[in-house]
Amino acid sequence: MNQGLQFDDTGRLRHLLTIEGLSRQTILEILDTAESFISVGQREIKKIPLLRGKTVVNLFFEFSTRTRTTFEIAAKRLSADVINLSVGTSSTAKGETLLDTIRNLEAMHTDLFVVRHGESGAAHMIARHVPPHVRIINAGDGRHAHPTQGLLDMFTIRRHKGDFGKLKVAIVGDILHSRVARSQIHALKALGVDELRVVAPKTLLPTAVEKLGVIPCSRMEDGLDGVDVVMMLRLQRERMQGAHIPSEHEYFNLFGLTPVKLALAAKDAIVLHPGPMNRGLEIDSAVADGPQSVILPQVTYGIAVRMAVMALIMGGSPGRREETHPVAASRARAVVTTRKRK
Ligand code: CP
Repeated sequence: MNQGLQFDDTGRLRHLLTIEGLSRQTILEILDTAESFISVGQREIKKIPLLRGKTVVNLFFEFSTRTRTTFEIAAKRLSADVINLSVGTSSTAKGETLLDTIRNLEAMHTDLFVVRHGESGAAHMIARHVPPHVRIINAGDGRHAHPTQGLLDMFTIRRHKGDFGKLKVAIVGDILHSRVARSQIHALKALGVDELRVVAPKTLLPTAVEKLGVIPCSRMEDGLDGVDVVMMLRLQRERMQGAHIPSEHEYFNLFGLTPVKLALAAKDAIVLHPGPMNRGLEIDSAVADGPQSVILPQVTYGIAVRMAVMALIMGGSPGRREETHPVAASRARAVVTTRKRK
């Protein structure tokens, strides 16, 4: 897929379609901007005027709880007008094509589309067809990418564990079908993580996965030994054709994260999961709800990270003076307000 599509002529991010090809600097800019937006969620009035007058359409062709809701909250916190198109009751059911749907919503002066679709490449295809002033954020396309999930995972890791260069990280589970894993791998490699292992039965590992700069492990004992971060994945039964695991019982026995298996990791290791969780299949409730779990903070951080992505890609023309750039000015205001409250 054409990664260049997400940048404008001056190299600024225009759409967010994938983490592949994003520089460390761009990822850090998103994480730093998200950090400045955390305080907005802690105020009595959780709103800043950064996207006032802009229209955001959430277009989800697959189910979602966390991503759709946090995008809506994020857009509202930035004061945008938000439309959630209910695809199940839209004219898609009458056979209207994806591009015709987009063109009609565009005719209503939409500024930003947040799109989840079951087909890999759907967000790229839309980005190729919209006029230059319209922005696209990929909220998950097929098995390909889920960039804002990858970014909020990086935000969570940085908040809880600090410097990526010192961290050993394991991504565990259904790597083969996971757009989340692909986005996490690109982000962790760009941020210079010390060691990255992918842990799964061979049937759930993509061929030649080591070309991505990861260490494949087919035993939890090897994969979890001494790691600082354990990133669990959902077993995506809806994307499986044929038998990838012998039985759910055996999968849990071998790859389910229990307190006993977590004890193989560093004592202060954190556990992430993008949700939704299959409790008792890929993760034991004792771990999911335990003291090392940062699964609910991930959801909370997702709002600030999605605010940051929307703000940056809608953030005015490049070359503006720092103090008049809307994102920079808003970040400055957020910091000032936080300081005044202390
Ligand atoms: N992590 C994630 O994408 O969850 P939802 O499917 O609920 O959006």
